[in-house]
Amino acid sequence: MFERILLAVDGSEHSVHAAKVAAEIARCMKSELRVVVAYEPIPPRLGEPHLQVAINARLDAAQTILQKTVTAIGEVPGGIRTEQIEGNPAEVVINVAKTRKSDVIVMGSRGLGRLAGLVLGSTSHKVVSHAPCPVLIVR
Ligand SMILES: Nc1ncnc2c1ncn2[C@@H]1O[C@H](COP(=O)(O)OP(=O)(O)O)[C@@H](O)[C@H]1O
Ligand SMILES: [Mg+2]
Repeated sequence: MFERILLAVDGSEHSVHAAKVAAEIARCMKSELRVVVAYEPIPPRLGEPHLQVAINARLDAAQTILQKTVTAIGEVPGGIRTEQIEGNPAEVVINVAKTRKSDVIVMGSRGLGRLAGLVLGSTSHKVVSHAPCPVLIVR
């Protein structure tokens, strides 16, 4: 049913939890699992060499999140692909789901945001509202 699963992660415990659920589904359905992390764009006005330092720091952080997630996922027969993309997280997730023709998006209900009391974070809210496919919000 779900041949291509898109998992969105930000490194939060919520997204690790979502990763484990996505992994279970992928194992049951022999799906391909694509993991995406979006990082905020860096303003070019920062100037060199600070711009490059800032870019490298964000790429490193994104890599760390992906590694942590892949470890939490474990073995998946259909394979795991990872992507780190610059941009607004919800827009990135929606665009990847469209271009990769994902059958379902899996994500956490909350993330790294500090606004206590929210049932749904801003990224999940926006993805649920505009996604081109079903969305599984893990809580
Ligand atoms: N930068 C990101 N890249 C990919 N997925 C993200 C990103 N930020 C959040 N997500 C996904 O959205 C879920 C909910 O996070 P979010 O809506 O941002 O909540 P909060 O407002 O608490 O940060 C996360 O668990 C994760 O699955
Ligand atoms: Mg967030």
